[in-house]
Amino acid sequence: MIHHEPLRPPSHDYPADEWNIIEKGYHPEFLAQLETVMAVGNGYLGMRGCPEEGGPNAENATLINGFYETWPIVYGEDAYGFAKTGQTICNVTNSKIIKLFVDDEPFWLPHATLKHYERRLNMKSGTLDRELIWETPAGKHVSITSRRLISFVHRHVAAISYRVTLLNAEASIVISSEMATNELNVRTNQFDPRQARVFSGRVLHGRANYSRDRRIVLCHATERSRLTLTCATDHKLETACPHAYKAVHNEDFGQVAFTVEAKPDCPIHLTKYIVYHTSHTASPEELCGRAEWALDRTTAQGFERLLAAQENYLDDFWHHSDVQVKDIREDRAKRTTIEIQQAIRFNLFHILQASACADDEGVPAKGLTGQSYEGHYFWDAEIYLLPFLIYTSPRIARNLLTFRYKMLPQARARAKELDQRGAMFPWRTINGEEASAYYAAGTAQYHINADIMYALRKYVEATGDEQFLWDYGAEMLVETARLWLDLGFYSDAKGGKFCINAVTGPDEYNTVVNNNAYTNLMARENLRFAARTVDDLRAGEPEAYSVLVHKTALEHSEVAAWARAAEHMYVPYDERLKIIPQDDSFLDKEPWDFRSTPRDHYPLLRFYHPLNIYRKQVIKQTDVILAMFLLGDAFSTETKKRNFDFYDPLTTGDSSLSTCVEAIIAAQAGDMEKAVRYGMAALLMDLADVGGNVKDGCHIASMGGIWMLLTYGFGGMRDDGGKLSFRPRRAPQVNAILRFPVMYRGQMLEVEIRQEKVEYTLREGKSLVIRHETEEIQLTREHPLAVRPVSKW
Ligand code: BGC
Repeated sequence: MIHHEPLRPPSHDYPADEWNIIEKGYHPEFLAQLETVMAVGNGYLGMRGCPEEGGPNAENATLINGFYETWPIVYGEDAYGFAKTGQTICNVTNSKIIKLFVDDEPFWLPHATLKHYERRLNMKSGTLDRELIWETPAGKHVSITSRRLISFVHRHVAAISYRVTLLNAEASIVISSEMATNELNVRTNQFDPRQARVFSGRVLHGRANYSRDRRIVLCHATERSRLTLTCATDHKLETACPHAYKAVHNEDFGQVAFTVEAKPDCPIHLTKYIVYHTSHTASPEELCGRAEWALDRTTAQGFERLLAAQENYLDDFWHHSDVQVKDIREDRAKRTTIEIQQAIRFNLFHILQASACADDEGVPAKGLTGQSYEGHYFWDAEIYLLPFLIYTSPRIARNLLTFRYKMLPQARARAKELDQRGAMFPWRTINGEEASAYYAAGTAQYHINADIMYALRKYVEATGDEQFLWDYGAEMLVETARLWLDLGFYSDAKGGKFCINAVTGPDEYNTVVNNNAYTNLMARENLRFAARTVDDLRAGEPEAYSVLVHKTALEHSEVAAWARAAEHMYVPYDERLKIIPQDDSFLDKEPWDFRSTPRDHYPLLRFYHPLNIYRKQVIKQTDVILAMFLLGDAFSTETKKRNFDFYDPLTTGDSSLSTCVEAIIAAQAGDMEKAVRYGMAALLMDLADVGGNVKDGCHIASMGGIWMLLTYGFGGMRDDGGKLSFRPRRAPQVNAILRFPVMYRGQMLEVEIRQEKVEYTLREGKSLVIRHETEEIQLTREHPLAVRPVSKW
């Protein structure tokens, strides 16, 4: 069920284009949405798509992954073990401001007479490009073009190339390049728990500030989290017009103002180089030094080198990641297919922007495109993003899993605090500590432990990186398995089965329930994987095994206990409906009255008290259905279909993590009409603002869901047990060729699905065994191609 109608901006000003998101007119009504859509970032640094002039803005955020401030969570009624410290990502120094004055008149978009305007998020070059012609009140025509780039290759570096040319007159102009810290941001919604906290006082406290020639360095630190940040800018002006400059700065502000006597048709080209460095440990002096070294190098190399490196990086990314869709019907309006292609690339590009250089950090729910959800890391990365990254950019996937490994000490401490064995990963966090103030929809989501281990298994199986499993994975497996064994118990009431009570599954509209099916199924996988890994290690890698025993005080008897709990895991089943109930109480509840729910009362969490939601049969996001996708081989197509038919009408899709998964199961169960309908809603989640909140940031998890829909859903891909197989199905609703690459154990496979046939091509590597339906196929360098017929649904 989807209750939201897509909102679409007027298409003539937002034309479809395969490689760019284009805005052809300035539309203040879409200002906030486009700040998100046009955001640039690299996973370390992110800037919303606000104009260079410093405004107008909805949320003018510059974000650094993992740079946050803490605050004490104050409860009206406190209880033992509640999270104590809130964490909120900071809006750091805004370095992208370049103001322009022509004969002392400021260029300000809302008031400007524009002869031409075009902005594009360029997904091939990784830049935000703008070109416009402004007619000043005095009738002078001024061409302004800019390119904003945040480097994928040098994660601390950003740059703006800014050109001004007077077209029909001469003028005195000033280009004021600025940086500003502690700018105020307004909260847009009166009540929306998903939005970030607004700090009342200043968050960043000055530690150093200085300027030298055209370079300005500002250093700040947070008070409570004790993080230090240096932002430094440098400038190069190239023009044949006479010019001079002046630099001023104070604690929170820096400005290099160039005054130029502009002649007609004589270009003025400013390049602004920007560097951010952050640290827990380094002194302000050291951090300023680091920023300056990076600036020295970058200014010496110049913008063109940065751009060339960016384009190379993206060529490689698209080579390994691009999913292509081509319409086969000549008569069909081409636009739809181009729109689909554009939206697919937009989703994949934003995942890259959220994760590429995250390095020691996770991926926030909104990437670095907005402060919503406080910049926290959830399970989104492991379940929704990692499949894409594992099969296209395994290095990034490995970094994200290593980041979880580094969180293990805090996860152990949290388990201890809650009187539990093993480790308990936080539901939401930046620094590794639980930051969820609402335990029912937070801490109770124990499934995050199993989600991380699920992603670990997929990573190891798809890459063959067993070293990672021995060095890091095994320790996480031991501690998470311990947690499950300790949390659950053998229940007489359930025939001696292993039950796990008082947990919340993915669906946050049914909280603190007994035997959430998703949790039990995923915990079972976690326990099995842990037991198997430890056994393998003991048998095959005795040295690594003894290191593990030393690190975890593991006793071998524990392993048998995990295997036993997995074997006896209780999985609810309803004989009458022949479905898996979401939990022990779900079927006892009264159905939600959808008919009397006004359309503008979604998401329900904004309009109904949690109790009114919890006592009803209503679902925020896929739960059983998600388990059926993740553990696909364990369920027949018939079972998937029956469960889908039952849960679909109850699922609001109030979380953007839902629709893509519904579409996948619909595709796998043969309901192609719904697969396409839901798939389009998920595909356009951000570009068409389907959820109505794209202004707050991209829905990064849903973007990962799009890749899964295209590959696992429409592409029929399966990887259960680590074996790559394909069962594509022909459907009358889908008249397109679908082509996608998959990296598997260092080799690259390309899959191309047409109506009648599917082609498997080994593009990189020596030899690869895959399955088509039940047939095993070996692709080699000598015989890289296999063609097979596609069956009908
Ligand atoms: C969803 C969670 C998700 C979080 C961040 C919530 O609305 O219910 O599953 O992790 O958003 O995306």
